[in-house]
Amino acid sequence: MSARAIDGNALSRHLRHEVSQRAATLREHGITPGLAVILVGENPASQVYVRNKVKACHDSGLHSVLEHYPAAMTEAELLARVQALNADPAIHGILVQLPLPPHIDAHRVIETIAPHKDVDGFHVASAGALMVGQPGFKPCTPYGCMKMLESIGYDPKGKHAVVIGRSNIVGKPMAMLLLQANATVTVCHSATPDLALHTRQADIVVAAVGKRNVLTADMVKPGAVVIDVGMNRDDHGKLCGDVDYAGVAKVAGWITPVPGGVGPMTITMLLMNTLESAERLVG
Ligand code: GUN
Repeated sequence: MSARAIDGNALSRHLRHEVSQRAATLREHGITPGLAVILVGENPASQVYVRNKVKACHDSGLHSVLEHYPAAMTEAELLARVQALNADPAIHGILVQLPLPPHIDAHRVIETIAPHKDVDGFHVASAGALMVGQPGFKPCTPYGCMKMLESIGYDPKGKHAVVIGRSNIVGKPMAMLLLQANATVTVCHSATPDLALHTRQADIVVAAVGKRNVLTADMVKPGAVVIDVGMNRDDHGKLCGDVDYAGVAKVAGWITPVPGGVGPMTITMLLMNTLESAERLVG
């Protein structure tokens, strides 16, 4: 078997077109969806990420502001900025780029974001809402993975999904979303004794570890859907995921490539969450 690739770039283009159309409708009601992005310090990767987020907003007709502060900013100053943005009616989404400098408590900062503006879906209130099936913002990467399944017409109901990784940002919310979609979900992690035992039984595998070749062809059931959330560099400095793409593509039914898979979907779902936050204002 040779897997079909799920094209995250094409799906992103399609969804971003939908975002710009819905944003145009909102503008007719006098509302321009607005995202505030806060970056503290000079982390080069973070600078690239936030630039891409701000550019994506502009390209889709969303308002966005980037607030870039020196690494010496105090936690109290950052909390005051978040509180000011909570009260700013032009801002519907607030994103504080992580990691933050070590003298700032990231958890305290995230918990200061008003849950109705938490478009990253990192607030405990957002995680709790997801856990109990109440409306709230879904974290962008797992939300994007669910959209990728939807795009190929794949219904997780009655399927066995194995999530590799248990981070608060990807693994745990991914498991919750798959459970909500009526899959039977297994979460594997660094202390799982025999990972392959689980993945070989899976109809859906989501690899979200941050390590190359976590999933190889011998670990995959023929025809399975494989979603690769990893972003790593190979020995030649080339971007690669957690999955041995060349090998697994010979066995799986569907597979997401890296680059061009989950990556572009994360920013797309951030736009979608910001749009939906603004749409809630008009019902
Ligand atoms: N750092 C790396 N990815 C993310 C993300 O999705 N959101 C935030 N806030 N920080 C990040």
